[in-house]
Amino acid sequence: MSSSAPRARGHWGSRLGFILAASGSAVGLGNIWKFPYITGEYGGGAFVLVYLGCVLLVGLPLMYAELIIGRRGGKDVLGAIRSVVARDEGFGGDLAALTGALAVASGFLILSFYSVVAGWAIHFLWVSLDLIPLSTDGAGATFAALAGDARLSALWHTVFMFLTMAVVVRGVHEGIERVCSRLMPALIGILILLLVYVAFSGGLAQSVSFLFRPDFSKLSGEAVLEALGHAFFTLSLGMGAMITYGSYLREDSFVLRDGVAVAILDTVIALLAGLVIFAVVFDRGAEPAAGPGLVFVTLPDLFATMPGGQLFGVAFFFLLIFAAWTSAISLLEVVVAYFIDEHGLSRTRATWLFGGAIWLLGLASAIWGPVLDFLDNLTTRFMLPIGGILIAIAAGYFMKRGDREAGFAGRPVLAMIWTVLIRFVSPVLVFAVILSKMGILRIA
Ligand code: PHE
Repeated sequence: MSSSAPRARGHWGSRLGFILAASGSAVGLGNIWKFPYITGEYGGGAFVLVYLGCVLLVGLPLMYAELIIGRRGGKDVLGAIRSVVARDEGFGGDLAALTGALAVASGFLILSFYSVVAGWAIHFLWVSLDLIPLSTDGAGATFAALAGDARLSALWHTVFMFLTMAVVVRGVHEGIERVCSRLMPALIGILILLLVYVAFSGGLAQSVSFLFRPDFSKLSGEAVLEALGHAFFTLSLGMGAMITYGSYLREDSFVLRDGVAVAILDTVIALLAGLVIFAVVFDRGAEPAAGPGLVFVTLPDLFATMPGGQLFGVAFFFLLIFAAWTSAISLLEVVVAYFIDEHGLSRTRATWLFGGAIWLLGLASAIWGPVLDFLDNLTTRFMLPIGGILIAIAAGYFMKRGDREAGFAGRPVLAMIWTVLIRFVSPVLVFAVILSKMGILRIA
């Protein structure tokens, strides 16, 4: 191949394969670990309603923007944005460079701590399998011992990073699509089994009313902001994951429908996971507002005493690991695709080199808990939302008109609604979130 010929890039084998990979990216720790506990903290139904509104108003338009930038650009996050912004020189070029750099950095940082949390899930799978005893003082003590044991956390983090790199190194079709096509149906199957269990064991009615009966007196301004931020994280937006995955689409696919499918799957899976978790919590008389320890402390304690709890626990932690794995793959792919497309590295080299660097950085989170919290806050509160605004600006103001319209395939009304949302609504709402997180703007 001459050096000027474009390097053959991967492609999804089928549309379903793409949808499974993209929803694999979206469905992750955000859905099964984070969504239930923040819903618990912010009081249930009203929070869920606001979160659904955010998915519709901000999440969907941005999802579409990322997919179409990726598909039209046909490159990594930086290359794709650069090729679709109308003016490559000047501000358009700077915007592409800035967004690309921020996106790659976000992938790097998020994966480093995400992998540590996913590693804890592997530890708890082992605990559920009775290969590691639950501390006699309960899961709280087991979790505290794990999080406080740097070597153990680092070990599981290493295992998880290796699993992630082993998939990405095999490429888009052979690696990512193949693994997601197996894990996603398995994940949905496990979730349905858990749902059937709680339908018979009790607690489901209370869980439904907690999640779906809005009590607006519990809704604070803070909750609205949290809901918006979470919509971002859970849909994998603001760091080019969907741009990168979109770039492996064939030109003729109609991405709008696929993006909607991914958002619906992600939302439904979060709601079902919430239903299952709160059913267990209510049935056993525990507290819904248990905070981040809900999945690693409250649940394992309940599993230890409920009938069939061991099997339930094993299934649950498989669910959590599968969800985290397919998301981590997309985080690494953003970084790897960047080094392949922009710096001409081979996939093998890019994967091991930069996967290795992320692993190294992750050791910091495994060793010092505060690093994990810091990176979590830095990325989800600031980097993803800022990345989201930049992508919205690139798509809404700088994208060539032909590229924008081609994505709607003769649906002018939809095109108009999207343009209004991506130009005005999404950036303004997201900007408000950032300001308020910085304490500059107070809402309610
Ligand atoms: N969406 C994933 C989750 O909910 C996290 C993620 C964020 C993955 C950004 C990729 C990019 O856990």
